[in-house]
Order: sequence, then structure tokens, then C-alpha cells
Amino acid sequence: MRKIAIFASGTGTNFVALVQAIKARQLPAQVVLLVCDHQDAPVLQRAQAFNIPSFVINFKDYANKAAAETAILAALQARDVQAILLAGYMRIIGPTLLAAYPNKIINIHPALLPKFPGAHGIEDAFQAGVKETGVTIHFIDAGVDSGPIIAQKAVPVLPTDDLDSLETRIHATEHVLYPDVLADLLKKGAL
Ligand code: GAR
Repeated sequence: MRKIAIFASGTGTNFVALVQAIKARQLPAQVVLLVCDHQDAPVLQRAQAFNIPSFVINFKDYANKAAAETAILAALQARDVQAILLAGYMRIIGPTLLAAYPNKIINIHPALLPKFPGAHGIEDAFQAGVKETGVTIHFIDAGVDSGPIIAQKAVPVLPTDDLDSLETRIHATEHVLYPDVLADLLKKGAL
């Protein structure tokens, strides 16, 4: 049974998809902690509804990123966390957490990396007028959305799409792909 922490900053639909899939598919994993960097993020209520404890971190309370990540690390180690899934966590992971969890931190990004990295992957692809975008799941390294890719799924941009309709289809794709990748990694013992 792998003990997993999910890091999220906002709405938490991927958090819910992962937690529900672990339960429904009886995956050998347990989400033991939500780490959230916004005290009023909706994902906190979602975690509460599943009885999953949260660790809220306010980066402004710390002198620098290393100090904040040291506090996060203590919370992870207190719960024996073995792997981290980023699900809409809008910060770059620093050396402290990277060193503690080598090849054990995974991210989901709403575009076909290396295209459209950053905080606005869906909008940037839509504005660029591409005919196809998608979802990427990758291991985290020190860069922005730049680590080794684990899986990608393309999503067509339809002539009738507006940003909302494209976003809806990207998110629906995320909610299937992320649990599938998690299941696969657990099966391979790669997490
Ligand atoms: C998701 O679309 C995720 O891919 C994106 O944030 C959204 C979070 O939604 N992540 C990034 O853009 C990372 N660069 P959620 O809070 O509903 O899961």
C-alpha cells in the first residue's frame, strides 16, 4: 500500500478523480495527506468530505522556499508519504522536496508538453489556434513542466470550441488519464 500525498492549489477536481479512482478500483494506494498553499482553496473542503487530512502552507510565513518546503517535508514524513501527485499545484517544486522524493513526484499539465508549459496551458493553446492540444503526465524535475513524460492524451480543438468547452473536455480527459497512469505506475512498482 503506497502512501500518497496530493498537492493542490485550487478547485480540486483532479484530487477528487484520484481519490475516487483509488477507492473504486481498489488501487494499492492511500491518499494520506492533501498539501495546499491557499487557505481558502475549494480543494480543502473536498478533502474534508473524504476525511483526508490537509496541511495548509502559507509561503509568506517562511523566509524562503527552502524553509517552507522543509515544513512541508516534515508533514509528509510524519505520515510516511512515499510519493507525491501534483494536481493543480501552481508552484515550482524546489530542491528540498526534489531531493527527498527523487522520481516520486508526478505532475499533470493541461497541454501536450513541451508545448504550452506554465500556468495557462489550455488558454495558451486555444489562443495559439492549434487544432490539437491535450494532457501530459510527467515526472517533476527542477524546471517548469519539464520532467520526463509518462503519458500524453491528445484532445482535438473543434471549430465550434470556445475556451470553456475546450477546458471542459481537457478536464474530462485529465480525470481519466491521471488515475490510469497512477494505476499503471502502481502495478509496475514504479511509484
Ligand atoms: C488542471 O487542469 C491541471 O492540469 C492544471 O491545473 C488544473 C487544476 O484543476 N495544472 C497546471 O496547469 C500545472 N501547470 P483542478 O484543481 O480542478 O484539479
